[in-house]
Formats: sequence, structure tokens, C-alpha cells
Amino acid sequence: MSLTLLNFQGLRNLLSVEMTPSSRINVISGANGSGKTSLLEGIHILGMGRSFRTRQLKHAIQADEPQMTLYGRLAGEPEVTLGVRRLRAQRELELRLRGDKNARLAELVEAMPLQLINPDAFRLLEGSPAGRREFLDWGVFHVKHDFLGMWKRTRRALKHRNALLRRGRIQPQEMAVWEHELAMWGEQMDVLRSAWFSDFLPVFEETLKVLLPLSGLSLHYARGWDKERSLAAVLHDSRATDQQMGFTQQGPQRADLRIRINKQPAVEVLSRGQQKLVVSALKLAQGRFLERTAQRHCIYLIDDLPAELDAQNRHQFCQLLEDMQCQAFITSVEPSALKNAWHTDTPVNMFHVKHIKEGLSNLERAS
Ligand SMILES: Nc1ncnc2c1ncn2[C@@H]1O[C@H](COP(=O)(O)OP(=O)(O)OP(=O)(O)O)[C@@H](O)[C@H]1O
Ligand SMILES: [Mg+2]
Repeated sequence: MSLTLLNFQGLRNLLSVEMTPSSRINVISGANGSGKTSLLEGIHILGMGRSFRTRQLKHAIQADEPQMTLYGRLAGEPEVTLGVRRLRAQRELELRLRGDKNARLAELVEAMPLQLINPDAFRLLEGSPAGRREFLDWGVFHVKHDFLGMWKRTRRALKHRNALLRRGRIQPQEMAVWEHELAMWGEQMDVLRSAWFSDFLPVFEETLKVLLPLSGLSLHYARGWDKERSLAAVLHDSRATDQQMGFTQQGPQRADLRIRINKQPAVEVLSRGQQKLVVSALKLAQGRFLERTAQRHCIYLIDDLPAELDAQNRHQFCQLLEDMQCQAFITSVEPSALKNAWHTDTPVNMFHVKHIKEGLSNLERAS
């Protein structure tokens, strides 16, 4: 899985981008504010339909431009083309996959599995469970194809149950219908998440061992409700307290991955650099796991890799990435920071983003 062509128009400060990346390592250098992160953001929007920088995609549209158009081509037989367009005047994204104008977002996500490692990535450890749940569900989604349907049904049932909880007087029959749905799909989601987790765990441990040989670190999956009881029983018994709170307190929407060191939350103990290595191990392990189970490579977007990693760790990270034979887009202010990181026979393309006029930049191939 690799991008052979990217064509971006109207994205942030980047003048029309036409990029033919290497199937393996692509290093994008440039001064602060030149547009390196914007380039990764463009690939992220193309593959995920959303930015990692803003909730409102209109901010990614170039100032004074009416729209942003992102196009990409993935290697394969046949090739896969992807397109995303966002008009300033229209909230909805227009998506295209293999020429199909009615493509759904999940199809784009499925076609181009992406993993992002950026300076915010350590929030995966310290932030709310939502980010870790997203990480977990990304893994399950890409290997278990019925997961998305379950996830949607669960979300729908949860929405209805929450609406009933807030309505005041509960209609027991109506509540029973949505609780039944929620319990059924929630239990099934847990079966898939938990199966994925037990297969993923050894891959994570093996990856972490290379990056950060640290004893006592453990990763657990918590399903979001009492281990000993069925979801149906939990929902039924917590109706009164859920009604007081106005939402469903337990269920698959509360699932989490817990990362601890000797029983303490890892985020309380690890240095920032160490946290970044743990997160890197999680993200690299996702790609390795996908490779082993689905024989698919994911594409890595790595923003500002050298930040916070010392030379030795940077080297280990690059080695792991290289061994995975996947495509990566890596930004760095100084291209020299990654100069000797790769084997001589690995295809490496160097790009440079340069300010040219009135706050706009150009992407060019560098030697
Ligand atoms: N909608 C927009 N239209 C035009 N320019 C924009 C828009 N949004 C942001 N910019 C500008 O685009 C530039 C791109 O910033 P970006 O974060 O991509 O740079 P960078 O190369 O990653 O910098 P750093 O090395 O500091 O991380 C910034 O100078 C910013 O002011
Ligand atoms: Mg940046």
C-alpha cells in the first residue's frame, strides 16, 4: 500500500502540490511555518476525511480560495484513486474513490490505512480514553469487516437510550428495546475488540522491547463495564443512576486501553521522551499487526520525528520503520537529522518546502 501520486490544490499555504513519493521513505524538510505539517495534514484528510489539527476543515482551505481539492493515487492492480473536495461555502466533503462520486468515508479509510505519529501523539497516554478507543477501533476495523456495522448499531442504540434517560419519565418498554440492542451489539463489539487485543498485545510487547526495554510496563484492555456481568444486566441495574446522570455510564462507549508501569499509570512515571517511545511502539505495532494479519501495509505520517528523541532512539525507530517495508512521510526542520538513518538500498525521496511569495510555499524535490 503506497501512494504513487499526490495532487493538492488550495491546501493551507501550499501552492499547487504535485508529488511523486517514493514507495518507502519520504523526508519533507523546510523552515518553521513553511508547510510541512500541512502536507501531512493533506494526506490525512485524504485518507480519513478529517484533519489532525482542526475540527473545522474550512480552516485548512487556503485563505482567499473557494475550495480545497486533494487527490491521491495508490499503487496496485488496478490502481486506486482517491479524492476529497471541500468547498468553503459547503460543510459536506465530497469524496471519490475509484471514480465513484458516492464513495463513503469508511471506504476511503479502508482503502488507505494511515497511522499518524506527531508531537501530540503522547496525548494517547495522558489524554482521555477517546483517543485510545480510536486507536483500538482502528485496529479492529481494519481486520474485522463486520466491526463498523456493529459500531454504528451500538452508537445508535446508545443515542436512543441516552435520549430516553433525559426525557424524564422512562417508558420501560421503549427502554427495553434500546437496551436490548445496545447490549447485543455492545457484547459483540467487546468480543471483537478483545480478540483483536489479545493478538495485538504480543506484537506491541515485541516492538516496545526494541524501542524501550522497560520492565513492568503493561497494557490492558478494559471493555467499559463490569467484567463479571453481562451488559444487559449492567444496563438494567443502572437505569436509575444513569437517569440521574443523564447518560449511560457503562458500556462499550467507555472501553479503554490502560497502560501502566508497576500498577501506576504510565503517564505519571515516564519521561516525555519515554512516553513518545511507548506511543511510537503502539503505532508501529498497529502497522506490523496489520501486515501480519491482513497482509496490508499502512502508510505512516510522522511529523517532526527528531523532536524529543535522542540519536540512539531515533535510529531504533527508523530501523523498525524501515523493517516494516511500508511507506512513510516524515517531516523534519533539518533534513540532516535523518540523513544516515536508512540503509543505502532503501528508496528515499527528499522534498523541500520553501516560502516563495506572500505567505505561500512550494514543494520541490531535493537531492
Ligand atoms: N488556511 C490557510 N491559508 C493560508 N495559509 C495558512 C492557512 N492556515 C495556515 N497557514 C499558514 O501555513 C503555514 C503552514 O504551517 P505548517 O504548520 O504546515 O508549517 P511547518 O512547516 O509544519 O512548520 P513547523 O516547522 O513550525 O512545524 C503557516 O505559516 C501558517 O501561517
Ligand atoms: Mg509542523
